[in-house]
Amino acid sequence: MMAVAAAEKNREMFAIKKSYSIENGYPSRRRSLVDDARFETLVVKQTKQSVLEEARQRANDYGLTEEEVVLAKTIAENPDGDNSVQKASLMLRLRDGIGSLARILKTVENFKGTVTHLESRSSRKEGAQFDILINVNMTRQCLLQLIRNLRQSSSLGEVTLLAEDSISIKNPWFPRHASELDNCNHLMTKYEPDLDLNHPGFADKEYRSRRKVIAEIAFAYKYGDAIPSIPYTETENETWLRVFNTVDDLVPKHACIEYQRVFKKLREEKIFEPHRIPQLQDVSDFLQKNTGFTLRPAAGLLTARDFLSSLAFRVFQSTQYVRHINSPYHTPEPDCIHEFLGHMPLLADPSFAQFSQEIGLASLGASDEEIEKLSTIYWFTVEFGLCKEGNEVKAYGAGLLSAYGELLHSLSDKCEHRAFDPSTTAVQTYQDQEYQPIYYVAESFEDAKEKFRQWVSTMSRPFEVRYNPHTQSVEVLDTVDRLESLVSQLNLEMTHLTNAIKKIKLRV
Ligand SMILES: [Fe+2]
Repeated sequence: MMAVAAAEKNREMFAIKKSYSIENGYPSRRRSLVDDARFETLVVKQTKQSVLEEARQRANDYGLTEEEVVLAKTIAENPDGDNSVQKASLMLRLRDGIGSLARILKTVENFKGTVTHLESRSSRKEGAQFDILINVNMTRQCLLQLIRNLRQSSSLGEVTLLAEDSISIKNPWFPRHASELDNCNHLMTKYEPDLDLNHPGFADKEYRSRRKVIAEIAFAYKYGDAIPSIPYTETENETWLRVFNTVDDLVPKHACIEYQRVFKKLREEKIFEPHRIPQLQDVSDFLQKNTGFTLRPAAGLLTARDFLSSLAFRVFQSTQYVRHINSPYHTPEPDCIHEFLGHMPLLADPSFAQFSQEIGLASLGASDEEIEKLSTIYWFTVEFGLCKEGNEVKAYGAGLLSAYGELLHSLSDKCEHRAFDPSTTAVQTYQDQEYQPIYYVAESFEDAKEKFRQWVSTMSRPFEVRYNPHTQSVEVLDTVDRLESLVSQLNLEMTHLTNAIKKIKLRV
């Protein structure tokens, strides 16, 4: 019980609380990735000071060592992580003999640590049999998680961090493998209706408890799990039906051809049906078949950095809850109706999927300011983008295709249309209370990608990354070996291309 209580205290101690309410400095009531990114930058700056001060003040209460306070401070200064390896020494007191050592070493391995030194001696402490000194190499984030994990073990009397060597922080941590997206679930707030008086579900206890049940699915989700189905209620299906019928009416006239093509396919495959909310796993399977994108359940709004980094792995973090029935045509936060009707059709389009992934890849290791710019680009393209189709302008943004009012506004003469140009779009301020006064129009997805690639090449990141779909990992192209491996793959692709051209010519 002591260990559990200590772990609880530590969780409280290290928690960085961020809530998306106006009272806490969030710039508006309308949610957007851009405001998320701005808010995150602000909170990170404030957190550096406040967490350090609080850590120092409360260190004695929690019985922490100075090194642990420094570790908490370092992580607070760089809450998105640091992937450089640190050396650390831990002192563990074993209650139940040496037998639990194997499990401890396995736990170190699970947190991607390497044991460099191990010593044991009989403990002089009452209630403990052995003291173990263990030196490990691991990242700070993993080290903190390891300490928390070990402290929850009933066979360990004490877990103390003795020393931790600092190695300079280079670039923000980012996931290298799709499984590490399990760490990318930093929520800005857990249950929005509980926190915001203006939320349509604030006064509805039943709705709030429903949101909690659905959120738990996302909290428990781990890489490789099947996404649990949700038996949606009659009310939730009714809400879906009302929005679905509206979108179904508007699609033929206003949606881009790529959206229409996939929307039709989703209907034919009975994944989209008017009377039944689709299940996340079914949609995820559909996307995987078409573009390799998959879905992960998200409990609520993630930080902009976490959300964007998932796209690098062709993973879209999707909410699973439904907006409140009292407000079927407007939701202050993304819900599954917005995700399904707004995002899913285009994530199944190869060209658009590639564009989304490139935004994600550009975000890996980017500075906070660049994350803000990428979020703004995401906002004006993936959420509110328009594109040319012959002489007409059509919508491809998810925020438009899942919202009747703004879709019609964006295609009316009440707003301004500008050509998509990442360098100006990235710094465009946007209207966060009403409809946008400005929308950006892409010549095509291919053209948008080409312009985006050129803009990304001007970013500050001192390395290049690429996604390897075979291993579901992101490779940093910073060694000759990795470049050689890439060249060898490109050679193979060139061979396929040359052979295909030859064979087509022979046929003509
Ligand atoms: Fe969205």
